Amino acid sequence: RFWWCPCGLSAFLPLHAAGLYREWDDLGSNIFDYVVSSYIPTTSMLHRAGQPQEVPPKPFHLLAVAEAEVRGWANLPGTKLELELINKHSSGHRVTELVRSNATADATKREMESATWVHFACHGIQDTMEPTSSALILSNGSRLTYLDLIRMNLPHAQFAFLSACQTAMGTSYLSHEFAHLATGMLMAGYRGVIGTMWAIRDDDAPFIADLVYKKLFEGGKPDHTQAASALADAVCALRKERRAPSESWVPFVHIG
Ligand SMILES: *[C@@H]1O[C@H](CO)[C@@H](O)[C@H](O)[C@H]1NC(C)=O
Ligand SMILES: *[C@@H]1O[C@H](CO)[C@@H](O)[C@H](O)[C@H]1NC(C)=O
Repeated sequence: RFWWCPCGLSAFLPLHAAGLYREWDDLGSNIFDYVVSSYIPTTSMLHRAGQPQEVPPKPFHLLAVAEAEVRGWANLPGTKLELELINKHSSGHRVTELVRSNATADATKREMESATWVHFACHGIQDTMEPTSSALILSNGSRLTYLDLIRMNLPHAQFAFLSACQTAMGTSYLSHEFAHLATGMLMAGYRGVIGTMWAIRDDDAPFIADLVYKKLFEGGKPDHTQAASALADAVCALRKERRAPSESWVPFVHIG
């Protein structure tokens, strides 16, 4: 395991994917081949991550939130498949789904109080002028903001997966799209978060989610502590089996 704690401009670099990028393929030697990377915003968070949770664990409960059609945003048909795959791997465990009109920011906040894991399949934006307004775009355009997240106190929270699909605008100032929201999740109480450094392709999201949840539910007992290595394996498959270009697989990161 390798924890990156970048500061300043280096926080915008995908350090976990540093390596030799050749003209004809992206399969040159890469940090990725040697270590399982995670990012942490501060070193004290690394200390916290190593501590057992202060509260007795709650029974497993996964909240899956998907919003595929928001007016003014590109549709995300891949989110439906993503939820089907989550349901497949988590069968026999408690799962609450908030989709379409039920996936409002208020309902999501309410359900997050009782869930131990949360999965978001929706758009997200990074507000560069007002970072606390960075948000997940939910039902009817309602927003779950960074500020909402850092105000939450979820001692039982374990794992969050922010699967943001393609954004309507792929401009460079959106490049750190989810890092701040992922940090917000850590502050809310989640011990580990999978997020994306920039916009991902709608059909890569279900591919990654499928392999990640398959591993997390392996053996029948959900284990969030495997999230970083599950992600590394999934990204490796995207990179080597699917021969996906670097802009497809580099954005996926584990934080915490
Ligand atoms: C919204 O939630 C209600 C109550 O749980 C459920 O009956 C309904 O089917 C849900 N609607 C959608 C679109 O999932
Ligand atoms: C959707 O949002 C608009 C504008 O905020 C609001 O007027 C409308 O009542 C909302 N619709 C639903 C179904 O919540």
